[in-house]
Amino acid sequence: MSLPKNKHGVAGASSVRLDAGKRSYLLTLTENKANLELKGDMTTTPKIEEVRAYWDSRPCNLRHSNALVGTRQYFDEVEARKYFVESHIPEFADFEAWRGKRVLEVGCGIGTDAVNFARHGANYTGIELSKLSLELARERFQVYELEGRFMEVDTELIEDSPLQGETFDLIYSFGVLHHTPNPERALRALRGLCHDSTELRIMLYAKRSWKAAMIAAGLDQPEAQNGCPIALTFTEGEAVTLLADAGFAIAEVSQDHVFPYQVDPYRNYEYVREPWFDSMPTQVFQALEMHLGWHLLISAHPTSKN
Ligand SMILES: C[S@@+](CC[C@H](N)C(=O)[O-])C[C@H]1O[C@@H](n2cnc3c(N)ncnc32)[C@H](O)[C@@H]1O
Repeated sequence: MSLPKNKHGVAGASSVRLDAGKRSYLLTLTENKANLELKGDMTTTPKIEEVRAYWDSRPCNLRHSNALVGTRQYFDEVEARKYFVESHIPEFADFEAWRGKRVLEVGCGIGTDAVNFARHGANYTGIELSKLSLELARERFQVYELEGRFMEVDTELIEDSPLQGETFDLIYSFGVLHHTPNPERALRALRGLCHDSTELRIMLYAKRSWKAAMIAAGLDQPEAQNGCPIALTFTEGEAVTLLADAGFAIAEVSQDHVFPYQVDPYRNYEYVREPWFDSMPTQVFQALEMHLGWHLLISAHPTSKN
C-alpha cells in the first residue's frame, strides 16, 4: 500500500472520514497498520447515554495501576501515575486552599482529585454520570477513611437533582465538560449553584494544541481507549464566549500538558519519551506545553447577571 504524501513530500499517517448512514468512521493509515474507528453520529450530537456507556466501559484512569482494583495499593498507584503524568493538576486544583470550604467536583471519575480535596479538609461533594466510576470513588473514600458525598447526576440536569438550592465555594471540573453533549447547558446549571464569590476551576481541551494537531493528522486520539463519543476542543476565545453565555467571567487562563511518552512502554508502566521530545531542551518543551498544551486551565467567577 502506498501512503499519500503530505505537503513536505513525506509519506506517513493519513486519515479519511468515511460516512455510512448517520455514522461516520475515521480510517487511519500508517506505514504498517490501518485502524477503523467509529466517530459517532454525523447528524446528531451523541446522547448522554452513549457518554455514560463509554465511561462505564472503562472509567478514566482505570488502568493507571495493575494492582488489584479497589485495594489501597491500587489507589495509591493510580494517584502516583496521574500526578506524575499530569503534574500540573495539584497546583491548578490547589487542594490546600479549600480546607473547610464547600467543594463540588463535577465528573469526579474514580476520585483521584476527590481524595485530595477531602484529605485537605474540604467539605466535598462529587457528581458523576458513570456508575462504575462513582462506585470506585466511593470505595476509595472508604479505603482511606475519608468523608465525602457522591451522587449520580448528569451535570446538564442539576436542576432536577437534590443539589438544587445548594451553593458551593469551589466548583471544580477537570476534563469533563468537553465530554458532555451540551457544555453550555451544563455550565448554566452550575451557575445556579454559585454564590457571589464562588470560584469555578475547569479544564477544557485546547483546540490550538499539539495533541489536536496530531489527532487531525490521524496520529493520535483524544482518550486512551478509542470510540470516545464526544471530545470537544476550544480556543481561548471560544471558552470565553461559552462561559460568558453561561454567566461566568474568566479570571485566568493558562495552557499546559503535552504527553511526551511512547504509548506501548507507557501501557507497561514504563516512561520512555518519544525521541523528538527526548532531544528537546527542557525550556523548549515547557514553551510547547505553555503554548500548545492539551489542557486549557480556566479559573472563572459568576457574573452578576445570570
Ligand atoms: C476524562 S474523565 C475525567 C474524570 C476526572 N475528572 C479525572 O480527572 O480523572 C471524564 C468524566 O466525565 C464524566 N462526565 C461526562 N459527562 C458528564 C455529565 N454530563 N455529568 C457528569 N459527569 C459527566 C464521565 O463519566 C467521566 O467520568
